[in-house]
Amino acid sequence: MSGNNKTVYRSSTTAPVNIAVIKYWGKRDEVLNLPTNSSLSVTLSQSDLRAHTTASCSDSYPHAEGDTLTLNSQPQNIRTSKRTLACLADLRAHRRALEDANQSLPKLSTFPLRIVSENNFPTAAGLASSAAGFAALVRAVADLYELPQSPSELSRIARQGSGSACRSLMGGYVAWISGSEADGSDSLAQEVAPASHWPDMRALILVVSDAKKDVPSTEGMQSTFRTSPLFPSRVSSVVPERMTGMENAIRARDFTAFAEITMRDSNNFHATCLDTWPPIFYMNDTSRAAIRAVHDMNRAAGETICAYTFDAGPNAVIYYLEKDADRVLGTFRQALNLDTEGFGNIKPSQASLLGAIDPRA
Ligand code: ADP
Ligand code: DP6
Ligand code: CO
Repeated sequence: MSGNNKTVYRSSTTAPVNIAVIKYWGKRDEVLNLPTNSSLSVTLSQSDLRAHTTASCSDSYPHAEGDTLTLNSQPQNIRTSKRTLACLADLRAHRRALEDANQSLPKLSTFPLRIVSENNFPTAAGLASSAAGFAALVRAVADLYELPQSPSELSRIARQGSGSACRSLMGGYVAWISGSEADGSDSLAQEVAPASHWPDMRALILVVSDAKKDVPSTEGMQSTFRTSPLFPSRVSSVVPERMTGMENAIRARDFTAFAEITMRDSNNFHATCLDTWPPIFYMNDTSRAAIRAVHDMNRAAGETICAYTFDAGPNAVIYYLEKDADRVLGTFRQALNLDTEGFGNIKPSQASLLGAIDPRA
């Protein structure tokens, strides 16, 4: 790269959402964003739910303004967002190291950054916007700075923006290993299996509400951590056993085991929310109707053909296998009175799971 002081350097990327089957809920370190437990998710690479982010920098941008972030056309106050600042500081430090080693590189690390991001799905509604958003932000700036860091190394940076974001830097089945180091150096995402390992896995997203949640994830999990007497047993025994069970289920492509662990972990997470003081309710009547529909469908089928999971919001994600698509989609349309337009402003989208995100796509 070469340029004069008017040159604008730019890079764009998209990142998909990921939906956890073993939930992250609770921080052992709020500053570094270190979790109380490991978690595991599926990256919905083929879904329509994505953050699209463009990062640019130039010596001609007003230095006094510093870095800026525009989200869904609204300027954000980046100076009060310690977590965004932490991501940008780490990315800049990596760029500076490159510039120190190679004096002919343009000094991008000294230029103000402009980051512009759009989510094509509801933000802060329990559909993992923070995951797609911070994964896209980190990837866009890393590409702009031409950083050599691997997805796992970048996941450590994205984790500081939003914990779940570390898992959206990889495709397929991804574990976020809690780690034990105080500085968070071993708290990062690792691929459990690529999407191609289980190519017939599907996810149906039921958008029950696209409204912004009352209790943001960060606040909710801090409150649960402080006040729920159920929470310690989730961290010490429930989740560790399920992580092993889930990794085995994925390796063996055992949908029955995958589904039971997924549903039980969603229920256990929401039980700790109800056990929080004052209680937090993320699910609503429609969410509970979806839970009943899944159990009814599995009972009627005489086998497990689908599994529900809910993040911190009322929207259901239903995992199933392609062979059962007609039964699962058909029953959902009927059970939840879904017409072809779906709920809210979004059509229920069927996502097949393929490949990792391509940063340069
Ligand atoms: P969700 O369930 O959607 O992940 P959270 O409460 O975890 O909701 O996080 C929502 C917050 O994540 C937003 O208020 C915003 O600060 C941040 N966020 C969402 N999308 C983006 C994005 N594309 N780029 C940067 N930050 C984002
Ligand atoms: C229920 O990653 O959004 O979706 O780290 O505070 O930004 P912060 O929280 P966030 O929490 C996600 C919680 C969850 C479960 C999960 O994705 O594992
Ligand atoms: Co989130």
